[in-house]
Amino acid sequence: MSDDTLRVAKIRSGTVIDHVPGGQALNVLAILGIDGSAGEAVSVGMNVSSDRLGQKDIVKVEGRELSQAEVDVISLIAPAASINIVRDYEVVEKNRVVRPERVTGVLTCPNHNCITTGNEPVESAFDVLDGGVRCAYCDTILREDIAAHL
Ligand code: CTP
Ligand code: ZN
Repeated sequence: MSDDTLRVAKIRSGTVIDHVPGGQALNVLAILGIDGSAGEAVSVGMNVSSDRLGQKDIVKVEGRELSQAEVDVISLIAPAASINIVRDYEVVEKNRVVRPERVTGVLTCPNHNCITTGNEPVESAFDVLDGGVRCAYCDTILREDIAAHL
């Protein structure tokens, strides 16, 4: 473990989202719905040096494990992220994120004429591409700006 990683203190129990591309940590927090208002203990390291990524971000959330839906969306902005579950200061589980084929009900289509953004009870659905996601209803493509459509 590099000294830079240790710049962000270890947690007792919760989840460490590691190997997030530099600059994406705040988007990870947005995906998790964390803005600090609920009093959660969260540590964030931004642009710490990493052998694998050059610069990486790291997010540590105390007392919380993530849902599969949350991990799926994180994979879109952090395809190389690892999700470490920590209990009693030990990493008890480590998983690389896997990009799903489709994400439903999480992202909002920016096309105002899309059936998913009107009054119809249609849940959003985006197919995951290499460089972004595509609305399954109207084919609108989102690329780097995925986090703006949460
Ligand atoms: N971590 C933490 N609190 C703990 C245990 C681990 O914040 N009580 C963090 C570490 O700082 C690291 C991540 O969880 O960022 C994964 O820990 P570990 O598997 O021990 O580190 P590495 O072997 O460096 O992980 P990888 O091989 O995934 O880079
Ligand atoms: Zn659409």
